[in-house]
Amino acid sequence: MKGSSSLSGFYKKSVDERIETLREVAGLEEEDIQRLKEGLPVELANIMVENVVGTFQLPLGIATNFRVNGRDYLVPMATEEASVIAAASHAAKLALPEGFKAASTRPVVRGQVQIIGLGDLATPAQRILEAKCGLMEEANRFAGSLPKMGGGVVDLKVKAFEEPRRMLVAEFYVDCRDAMGANVVNTILEGIAPRLEELTGGRSLLRILSNLTTERMSRSSVVFRRGALGDEIIEGIIAAYDFACADPYRAATHNKGIMNGITAVTIATGNDSRAVEAGAHAYAAISGKYLPLSKWWKDKEGNLVGELELPLALGIVGGATKVHPVAQTVLKIIGAKSANELAEVVCAVGLAQNFAALRALVSEGIQKGHMRLHSRNVAIMAGATGQEVEKVASAMVAEGNIRVSRAKEILEALRGKSSDQ
Ligand code: MEV
Repeated sequence: MKGSSSLSGFYKKSVDERIETLREVAGLEEEDIQRLKEGLPVELANIMVENVVGTFQLPLGIATNFRVNGRDYLVPMATEEASVIAAASHAAKLALPEGFKAASTRPVVRGQVQIIGLGDLATPAQRILEAKCGLMEEANRFAGSLPKMGGGVVDLKVKAFEEPRRMLVAEFYVDCRDAMGANVVNTILEGIAPRLEELTGGRSLLRILSNLTTERMSRSSVVFRRGALGDEIIEGIIAAYDFACADPYRAATHNKGIMNGITAVTIATGNDSRAVEAGAHAYAAISGKYLPLSKWWKDKEGNLVGELELPLALGIVGGATKVHPVAQTVLKIIGAKSANELAEVVCAVGLAQNFAALRALVSEGIQKGHMRLHSRNVAIMAGATGQEVEKVASAMVAEGNIRVSRAKEILEALRGKSSDQ
């Protein structure tokens, strides 16, 4: 993007004005603007999935103020939940001028071939390992253009299970480069499975990637200055983190707050949010106890330090990232040059979202801000349209009474007044 991600007053602008701002700072062209306005055409939806009868749309907003590894990003988020985008933007602002640091591993995804119907396991396992180099080479023939691009099968391991059933699992590790990888990994597995049957004398059953991508990890970190937050908030956030460490019932909600950010960007970019969610929660429980995905502590100067680490299999090529017209424009707005760069930005958004939720929870609570933003939905539920929405919402906020029944009364009064004039 051109310039800074701190788009002053962005939230006060109209939708058209915001799009105009994006035209300038994110270099959007007429085609992108049409895509944002039109969404997913039903003809395209009809090609993407089966039995189509329409499309289901979500609000798409821009989180501002993100700086990750010294670079500024505008981050589109698709979510139905009020407060999420404002909260992420606010947290990112508090993290300035340093912003977030983030890193990611090589984008390696593990694919598994389950082999059943075996007598002893040691001999067939040994055969697979002895043939490892040849098997990897053969598997790479099913990897399309990945090997040419510096990716492809990078390792092969074998796991043996006696319980609850005797079986071998051959695991192919595939560097998926800029793809999420499900298609290419599953193609490789289905291609190589007959060769594994020949070698072992067993029968291959499941041939599928694992969504617990512990070889494809992202990490982000942030420091919030003591002066900007105050000791009470910092102590509160650390106590909230301790609660999540102690109790999986709290950890699930703590992690939900992180995923509010991660899932919203995952969906906006046309990526598979179920894969990311499955990996994140499985990773949270990898020690045998379900734990928070982030960590919060105080440094020597009393600043609040946060870190988030999770498996993140995101792509910038293939699948809906390239088919969904809005996802294409979203990727242009983010401007990530690789899947790893995208994952790093997403990881920073998750940490920002977690911080924002904890900060609200340990101070005024989340309902005040949430209800203020939700008041517009309530106004719509009561039948308000156009400019009425803001008027009814503001009146409810001023009264501290955000209910559909009250919204209806305010709306009636408002309409009565305008018909008198
Ligand atoms: C609500 O969508 C997310 C929170 O519940 C997260 C949390 O409790 O940390 C506020």
